Amino acid sequence: MKKIRVRLGQNGYDVLIGPGLLSETGRLLKDLGCNDKAVIITDPTVKNLYGISLRQSLTGNGFKTTLLEIPEGEEHKSLETAGRLYQELTDAGAERGTPVLALGGGVIGDVAGFVAATYMRGVPLVQLPTTLLAQVDSSIGGKVAVNHSQLKNKIGAFYQPRLVISDITTLQTLPPSELTSGLGEVIKYAVIRDAEFLGYLEEHLDRIKALDAGVFEHIVAVSAKIKAEVVEKDEKDTGLRNILNFGHTVGHAIETVTEFRISHGQSVAIGMMAAVLIASEMGVFENSDVVRIRKLLRRAGLMTKMPKVELGRVMSAMTHDKKVAGGKIKFVLPRAIGDVFVTDDVNMTLVEKILSRT
Ligand code: NAD
Ligand code: GLY
Repeated sequence: MKKIRVRLGQNGYDVLIGPGLLSETGRLLKDLGCNDKAVIITDPTVKNLYGISLRQSLTGNGFKTTLLEIPEGEEHKSLETAGRLYQELTDAGAERGTPVLALGGGVIGDVAGFVAATYMRGVPLVQLPTTLLAQVDSSIGGKVAVNHSQLKNKIGAFYQPRLVISDITTLQTLPPSELTSGLGEVIKYAVIRDAEFLGYLEEHLDRIKALDAGVFEHIVAVSAKIKAEVVEKDEKDTGLRNILNFGHTVGHAIETVTEFRISHGQSVAIGMMAAVLIASEMGVFENSDVVRIRKLLRRAGLMTKMPKVELGRVMSAMTHDKKVAGGKIKFVLPRAIGDVFVTDDVNMTLVEKILSRT
């Protein structure tokens, strides 16, 4: 098992990464000082796969558990779902000390986290991420949110969990498309922060695809460590944390224009490709590294070319993204593998030119 500490003073916490950890949850909750009751929030697929073993671990350690289920899908990351969960928490007798356990992917983590942050002004939150994306990204850093009036993550908070338990055995049951999507974020960490890690991914990609547990533990741990270090330096997302949006400027626009038919992971991969091409065209990034990144993304099963969409709509979606500050579009661009910078000084004609031939 690997342990990464997210150092945020009183709000600091551990991220535990290893095989079979779900069955340790009851003991780990006791170590946190929780006792008595616990509420699990999950979705039907994850409940069927992991609900029983999690409950056994909790009841075996004396916890009275309630399991609340929400339907799968981004459309259920809503205030309506949160409202229903508040009522169900009340019905279950949840009190201020009752931990909420978010068992599932990023959707569950975000909505259960939002409910934990707001129910009775905050109850303890434990993240139990079961997708690669959730283990390397959404469970760490305290961003919790629901969508509102077509806008993603519009209503939310910064609310750090008390503990993150990443049981890498759960990744064995992930649909291949979800694994690929998560891999996009893993490659992102390597490009923004860790050149050596990019070499590791190039060397071990076949073992990742073969679901090798040892390799999973390593890639989740390295990614979690990078995310933790960035969050520690900029918890409230006012500066450095922007670098985590590498590939997201163009990526979000593609998601919007294709009405989410192209997944987040795939859209961000195209966005990362666009960012490295922009940097190369601006003369700040080696073309040989562009070739390297393109090759790795493709081997991972990620898209590197623009889908058939009207370019004007993508350009317009970029201008309307919620991350645009004062009309300036921010890009995260690489200087070298492992080193990126944030700039709002990118010529949009160049962006359009790159996208038209990507
Ligand atoms: P998801 O939560 O929608 O899960 C994808 C699917 O995988 C679901 O159908 C789920 O039932 C299934 N699933 C989950 N674990 C499984 C397992 N082990 N085996 C088989 N099936 C499993 O998708 P996601 O990619 O994990 O998360 C996407 C969400 O994360 C988005 O809402 C996004 O906004 C959010 N997000 C949040 C942050 C943050 O910092 N809070 C960061 C990135 C993304
Ligand atoms: N996923 C981006 C962040 O946590 O800031």
